Amino acid sequence: MDLKEKIDKDILPKHIAVIMDGNGRWAKKKGNQRIFGHKNGVKAVRDTVEGAAEIGVKFLTLYAFSTENWSRPKQEVDALMSLLVSTINSETDTLIKNNVRLLTIGDINGLPKDVGKNLNELIKKTSNNTGLSLVLALNYSARWEIVNAVQQIVSEFEKTPFNIKEIDNEVFEKYLNTKNIPDPDLLIRTSGEFRISNFLIWQLAYTELYFTEVLWPDFRRDDLFNAIINYQKRERRFGKTSEQIKH
Ligand code: FPP
Repeated sequence: MDLKEKIDKDILPKHIAVIMDGNGRWAKKKGNQRIFGHKNGVKAVRDTVEGAAEIGVKFLTLYAFSTENWSRPKQEVDALMSLLVSTINSETDTLIKNNVRLLTIGDINGLPKDVGKNLNELIKKTSNNTGLSLVLALNYSARWEIVNAVQQIVSEFEKTPFNIKEIDNEVFEKYLNTKNIPDPDLLIRTSGEFRISNFLIWQLAYTELYFTEVLWPDFRRDDLFNAIINYQKRERRFGKTSEQIKH
């Protein structure tokens, strides 16, 4: 039986977030430079996006470049940035054809000008698409996102003071980059590492975590489907008891 057929369409995760890890190790194993791993990582991105769109996942967030990634060797950072631009350009038609809407989270203004420009153009071109929303986390750090939210709230308070008791979870979330995006139901991290690495710290509060040994460049839609099948066997309790969930 095809893996896809084992997926229950009624309890599909609405939002899947992915920490794409292991590009460097994959390349090293093959006796190649790290960037060779990133280039092959694009193939995994393509297959994962297609797989997610095909089964009807609504949001897919990919951790493509963290704020901490700037401290990698300049040669690798430059290569990653040009890979981003070339991928955006080469995938534009496919994304449009497949009704995918592109969104970003992270400090996009802090990216090189050509990357920001290409991204903004593609965001605009796909803004009316109604299929999968592909969210790229770029120059993203969850702590930055939270501090940034606090700064915005305080700045509004300085202009027009309000009752601080009005700030609850719902209000706070409106100041995060992910406003209007539901929290992830499932987080996948590849390459056998068990960390969150400053990714969506607020949003992952009740997310199901799935770790696989597969290195990102080898990740394909069947790996995504396996993660979803595993997720569908779990009982999500959101702090309640098992009995409460069942009744
Ligand atoms: C982590 O592997 C991967 C990254 C930091 C970059 C991810 C980028 C891509 C897959 C390519 C471009 C993406 C898009 C969305 C077009 P690592 O380098 O940390 O691997 P290692 O842990 O084995 O060293």
